[in-house]
Amino acid sequence: MRLDQTSDLWWKNAVIYCLDVETYLDGDGDGVGDFGGLIRQIDYLAGLGVTCLWLMPFYPSPNRDDGYDISDYFGVDDRLGDFGDFVDLVRTANDRGIKVIVDLVLNHTSDEHPWFEEARARRDSPKRSFYVWRDEPSDEPKGIAFPDRETSNWELDEDTGQYYLHRFYRFQPDLNLANAAVRDEIAKMVGFWLQLGVAGFRMDAVPFMLELDGIAEQVEGDPHGWLRSLRAFACRRTGDTMLLGEVNTGLKDLARFFGDEDGDQLNMQFAFLLNQNLWLALAREDAEPLEATIRSLPQPPPDNGWATFLRNHDELSLDKLTGPQREEVFAAFGPEDGMRLYGHGLRRRTASMLGGDGPRLRMAWSLMLSLPGTPVIFMGDEIGMGENLDIPDRMSVRVPMQWSDDANGGFSTAPAKELVRPMTGGAFGPAKVNVAAQRREPDSLLNWMERLIRRRKESPEFGWGASELIETTEPALFAHRCVWQGSVVVAAHNLSGESVRCTLELGVQKGEKVQIDDLLEERRHEPGTDGTLDVELGPYGYLWLRVRRQGERALS
Ligand code: NOJ
Repeated sequence: MRLDQTSDLWWKNAVIYCLDVETYLDGDGDGVGDFGGLIRQIDYLAGLGVTCLWLMPFYPSPNRDDGYDISDYFGVDDRLGDFGDFVDLVRTANDRGIKVIVDLVLNHTSDEHPWFEEARARRDSPKRSFYVWRDEPSDEPKGIAFPDRETSNWELDEDTGQYYLHRFYRFQPDLNLANAAVRDEIAKMVGFWLQLGVAGFRMDAVPFMLELDGIAEQVEGDPHGWLRSLRAFACRRTGDTMLLGEVNTGLKDLARFFGDEDGDQLNMQFAFLLNQNLWLALAREDAEPLEATIRSLPQPPPDNGWATFLRNHDELSLDKLTGPQREEVFAAFGPEDGMRLYGHGLRRRTASMLGGDGPRLRMAWSLMLSLPGTPVIFMGDEIGMGENLDIPDRMSVRVPMQWSDDANGGFSTAPAKELVRPMTGGAFGPAKVNVAAQRREPDSLLNWMERLIRRRKESPEFGWGASELIETTEPALFAHRCVWQGSVVVAAHNLSGESVRCTLELGVQKGEKVQIDDLLEERRHEPGTDGTLDVELGPYGYLWLRVRRQGERALS
């Protein structure tokens, strides 16, 4: 295995950590997290082993959608700091070997963005065509993102008597990407943040951004051509810029977002279909939904890949499952009405859904970190934080980080009523779940995650290699093999609470002499002479193995 080759295409062996500056650590005691606080915790993140931070929106914003409603793409929300603080963060992170990517929200602006204020001032405003207008509302495009709050994707602007398109809330008017002036502004933003040192972008709502339904008359050319040219532009500025797209769409369209064969659009896409079927598999304690999804997903082009995750900052969307499948996941992980959202999602976090720290939670993390692709961890999941269901809708999972059992979980010294968002309480509150206590406990979830992340980075076969499912006779067992430059790793996960025994095909020739290194625990394994290995996995057991051919040195 040529490890030196993993120094290109950094995203293929990255471990990405998503955080919101606003809720991470309050450095100045005003109740709001800030860049100063985050900079103090960079060594914590370096110790955890993550290699890339994804910063949720930190731009000036009226904050009606937690910063996904941007009023200035070239600024920093002054509650969080200023450009100096931003640059210090990027520099400090880079010094510790951590890259920074930022959220790029191009589908829409805030209705308080000066472009929209100008656009809605009069029909002949030069900024009018920055947005999408019609004389009559339409039932296209189909689908409402937030059905609890909106009933249409078109909103009447009373003063000018036309309707504007908004795929999300009505205060988030959609930008008209067909307009060359809008595209120029976008290129300017991408160039600006690259110049400040970011390594790439998490692109919000990509399919919505590119869709033509209901607006075809305003758009010329293939919108994917624009995405291709944006990627080319970003890579001209900084050769290894990574674009990671939020693409929760149907199977048949996914490949197009990488860019057909040559992968010249998004370097990475969040694997939403995989995520939804992973939760179905966990609910059923049966590997089949996960296996079927992996078989059906398009193979990303060689330089591209999937970003895998257990949970993110939104609802756990189950919108691509069938109704009965969704009900199974609801019954297992969201039995109460208040845990559900929009009829298709759950507003809970990983640890609380999986019963807190224990074999099942650790198995789920081990599975996620070994799936083909690049893992993305949501802040606080490394210590097993839970949600606060008293906070409305998706915000229930975006609670402040729990650093200690001090007041406000050590997040802020401000009075609790002044916090940007309330803390979690109960079994998952800071008294029970916090970084300081888990640092001291050798077998805590935090220390275990740190070891798992280290192993993941030492096993580039998972991110770079070709992956194959291993057939076994045990329905609860998910087993796969990843092969990269002749080096083989095998992972097996028991999704059920019952022990299983099985035989794994190691992917070597019959009679070939191999040794097996257990990558996670001190276990000895004796492979058969027929290229197989018998294993027994306890309830929610898991293992990662490297198959070492005769004469090959153990890596560690
Ligand atoms: C997806 C983001 O993840 C979500 O939080 C946001 O509300 C919408 N896009 C709109 O920007």
